[in-house]
Amino acid sequence: MDPRASFYLLLPFLALLASMLAGGAGAATLSFSNKCSYTVWPGTLTGGSSGQLSSTGFELATGASFSINDVPATWSGRAWGRTGCATDASGKFVCATADCGSGQVSCNGAGAIPPATLAEFTLAAAGSGQDSYDVSLVDGFNLPLSITPQGSGSGCTAPSCAANVNSVCPSELAVKGSDGSVVACKSACLALNQPQYCCTGAYGTSETCPPTNYSMIFKDQCPQAYSYAYDDKTSLFSCAGGTSYLITFCP
Ligand SMILES: *[C@@H]1O[C@H](CO)[C@@H](O)[C@H](O)[C@H]1NC(C)=O
Repeated sequence: MDPRASFYLLLPFLALLASMLAGGAGAATLSFSNKCSYTVWPGTLTGGSSGQLSSTGFELATGASFSINDVPATWSGRAWGRTGCATDASGKFVCATADCGSGQVSCNGAGAIPPATLAEFTLAAAGSGQDSYDVSLVDGFNLPLSITPQGSGSGCTAPSCAANVNSVCPSELAVKGSDGSVVACKSACLALNQPQYCCTGAYGTSETCPPTNYSMIFKDQCPQAYSYAYDDKTSLFSCAGGTSYLITFCP
């Protein structure tokens, strides 16, 4: 064969290799679907010092979906949903729950201010290990959400926190909106700041930090979600690397 012809045949593979070296290929997709009766403004935050995703915040109307298609194959980070958002008189975008404090719809590297229900991910590249993912109420609860592995990972566990924990939130943990209704439920650690609730000090290991009467309120409502820091056994899930995920609000 003409060596030039074989070069042209190779081009698509060279392009693929180049994009893999650039860290973009084998990318995962993070999709979002809003089944709540209210608008949700999702936010995303990359862990560690890696770059942020192409979208760190956007508006998702009732019934709407949105996908971030260029999530790096080894991404780790979290996503959440903000509620009760509006632009205030000074032009700042602010939310009643899970605000990221950026003053904009994009969070730009800022995380959710608790309480916030979190979808957490540590992704592995296809063929090189397992993704880990969980729904976490360690930073409290603001809205129901689920994580559904997609495509090749569709047999993996799809953890869901579908209950409205706000409706059973004890008053000492409750965050109320302007109309007096409970819009979010703090973790006991945030509200009461004691070592047995925060798993700090003498309670700083999985052996010495058992569930508490407060964490059990969250666990009763959402058995597949983290209710406190060391709740790994029943709350951390894994699926083959390379899987994509759907986050559904109010599943
Ligand atoms: C949890 O236990 C603490 C300490 O015994 C108690 O003060 C608190 O009222 C309890 N809260 C609930 C919601 O049961």
